[in-house]
Amino acid sequence: MGWKDGIARTTYLTLRAEVVAARWIGMSMLSTSRSFGLYRRIFFEGRTAQEVLNTVRNEVVVDIGCGFTPYFSDSMFQTCEAEGIAFYGVDPVLAEGMRSPWYSRTVAHLAGSFGRYLQHPPGQERMLGVYADAIPLETACVDRILASMSLFIWVDDEEVLAGIFTEFARLLRVGGQVHIYPHPPWKHLSCKNPRLQQALDTFDIAQTFVITGNPVAAPPAYRTIFTKR
Ligand SMILES: C[S@@+](CC[C@H](N)C(=O)[O-])C[C@H]1O[C@@H](n2cnc3c(N)ncnc32)[C@H](O)[C@@H]1O
Repeated sequence: MGWKDGIARTTYLTLRAEVVAARWIGMSMLSTSRSFGLYRRIFFEGRTAQEVLNTVRNEVVVDIGCGFTPYFSDSMFQTCEAEGIAFYGVDPVLAEGMRSPWYSRTVAHLAGSFGRYLQHPPGQERMLGVYADAIPLETACVDRILASMSLFIWVDDEEVLAGIFTEFARLLRVGGQVHIYPHPPWKHLSCKNPRLQQALDTFDIAQTFVITGNPVAAPPAYRTIFTKR
């Protein structure tokens, strides 16, 4: 095992242990709100804001498990919204809106976001309060799907993941990509569910190692890139 594999595996096992501990104390989910700065380092190799915006300018982008990011001025959602880019946030928590801004702001700060809280966020029509296996967008209309700290970390049931990857295969155009962070080496993620395996078989899979410089909010790990065949 190389050093990158070792670090990524440690990160993944630590985060999984945190999820198990959170569930044990009755916390089913923690909706964090990482900033565009962190998303740039997680998903775009730390390129500048302008470079990232130019990359996604003509794309349809969907952020799966976006948490309350659309409520913060420094999110990728709001940065794209200000530029007129078709960026969608998908998270069931958006259906109810933010019940406790104080709590969510504290959680956002812990995850490295210090943006302004927006009581009435622009782009509400692109804040989709749904689960990732039933997204109300047309078939083959999406170019890029991002998922930070959600799939395989908090969402770990293989039957649920099977439904989600089947939905991704429907939404993405050929050549479109799903980027998921954080992951251990792919070979260490076992998949026993035949439906999930069948859905994964529609993608080419590659990984890239990510170091963000913020080991608390975004520790070193792999980003897995699924490209639709
Ligand atoms: C830890 S937060 C990550 C928020 C944000 N992406 C970030 O990096 O800060 C995980 C989010 O995944 C969402 N989630 C859980 N299951 C989901 C599902 N089936 N479909 C879409 N989102 C889901 C939760 O509601 C939660 O807000």
